[in-house]
Amino acid sequence: MTRLPATLEDGETPRARGADRHAGDGALFAAAFDELIGAALVLDNQLRIRLATPAAAAVLGTEVPLGASAATLLCGDRPKRPFAEALAEGVGFQAVIPHPGTLGGEQVRVRSVPVSSGAEDSAPLGWIVYLSPVSGNDGEPVLFHGMWTRDARMKETFRIIEKVAGDDVTVLVRGETGTGKELVAHALHALSPRRAGPFRAINCAALPPNLLESELFGHAKGAFTGAIKDTMGHVQLADGGTLFLDEVGELPLELQAKLLRMLETHTVLPVGGREAISVDVRIVSATHRALRAEVEAGRFRADLMFRLRVIPVRLPPLRERPADVLLIADKLITELNARGRRQVAHVAPAAAAALERHPWPGNVRELRNVLAYAFAIGEGPVLELGDLPPEVASLTPPMAEVLVPAVAAAIDEGASPEARRIRDALARTGGNRDRAAKLLGWSRVTLWRRMRALGLEE
Ligand SMILES: Nc1ncnc2c1ncn2[C@@H]1O[C@H](COP(=O)(O)OP(=O)(O)OP(=O)(O)O)[C@@H](O)[C@H]1O
Ligand SMILES: [Mg+2]
Repeated sequence: MTRLPATLEDGETPRARGADRHAGDGALFAAAFDELIGAALVLDNQLRIRLATPAAAAVLGTEVPLGASAATLLCGDRPKRPFAEALAEGVGFQAVIPHPGTLGGEQVRVRSVPVSSGAEDSAPLGWIVYLSPVSGNDGEPVLFHGMWTRDARMKETFRIIEKVAGDDVTVLVRGETGTGKELVAHALHALSPRRAGPFRAINCAALPPNLLESELFGHAKGAFTGAIKDTMGHVQLADGGTLFLDEVGELPLELQAKLLRMLETHTVLPVGGREAISVDVRIVSATHRALRAEVEAGRFRADLMFRLRVIPVRLPPLRERPADVLLIADKLITELNARGRRQVAHVAPAAAAALERHPWPGNVRELRNVLAYAFAIGEGPVLELGDLPPEVASLTPPMAEVLVPAVAAAIDEGASPEARRIRDALARTGGNRDRAAKLLGWSRVTLWRRMRALGLEE
């Protein structure tokens, strides 16, 4: 999860900012959600749009007016009832709707997840609506160095990789866990003139700082207890080849300085060593974080970030490329069939729907694990819904549980205490104003007047 920099100055209380608080928070939450879940809208329980991520505006091809009805935005003049009714039932749903911003055959996949307060039987506080483009013409599957896709952005990424592989420029691959960052690093190596040289990978998050330093840069005999001989680090071992720095965002600041020096001088100084040693390595790094935010938070050096990401590459999460789920599942099933334990000839429609609906927080790695589970649990030539692990087979995606507290806070954040009380009352009464007014100890007219004053009334 991205850590966000604090936006308040030292000594400043949130209250002191009062006036510009809303706009600031709106942008902050939109960016934060963009980071977390990509193209998505957050709706309140009246189905009004409370937050839209920048990616959502990009998918919809239009500015998203906050406060407007989601049904109107998504359905335009077309019947809104199926959308509103599905949400009113309080369960998540998935549908493919015509693109609101174009007249052509383009479509958008919408997947909604209710946001509840967690109290039993409570009506949803609101909704997260995930959006993804369903483009008719990105359909052709391609295979690129172990990566299958039908997604136009992935194909563009492959084109960039092919183009830059031959140069020694640094590449920073950004993507959630399991999106194929390591495959990209291997592809860059395999497509470069360094392919005959070594490929070394090191995970910067996996070791404590002093061990990491010696693993990366090596150490001289006697540098510390147990250093019985001169030992080469990964940088030297990758000489003539490619060094893959995984989770580079976790590199401690002292080592960032040392890495920067290595990039600038093409030399390394082993721990306890006296002389710098020349090296010829190409650096590819990966991160699941936005390095820029790390820089702003003072945890990552800006100069190093610019050095590392001469070519930035972003791998979209699987939930942003829904057409890839069944394609990759199909390829993985072929792979698992070859192991001979079970032969799956096809996937039952209910199981396919569950795979498509699942948000895949662990991306392709999770998909691989889920299919391995299905092969181990089930029998026969048809992969059934019951073969899938419960978190995939059930309607409520696990991602929703992770996000619910954050989203509920975001919906609440911009509201005055009174607005919050009113919304709570409405949520608890399923939007029934008579009962909500009673709960608040007001007349129906007072409720209506307060709602209008607070801008809660349409
Ligand atoms: N597009 C794809 N098609 C087929 N398999 C894929 C694809 N993307 C990833 N995989 C597979 O998914 C698994 C995870 O890929 P990889 O290790 O490259 O991800 P990662 O981004 O490095 O993950 P992490 O951040 O957790 O290290 C691997 O088994 C890889 O082969
Ligand atoms: Mg990896």
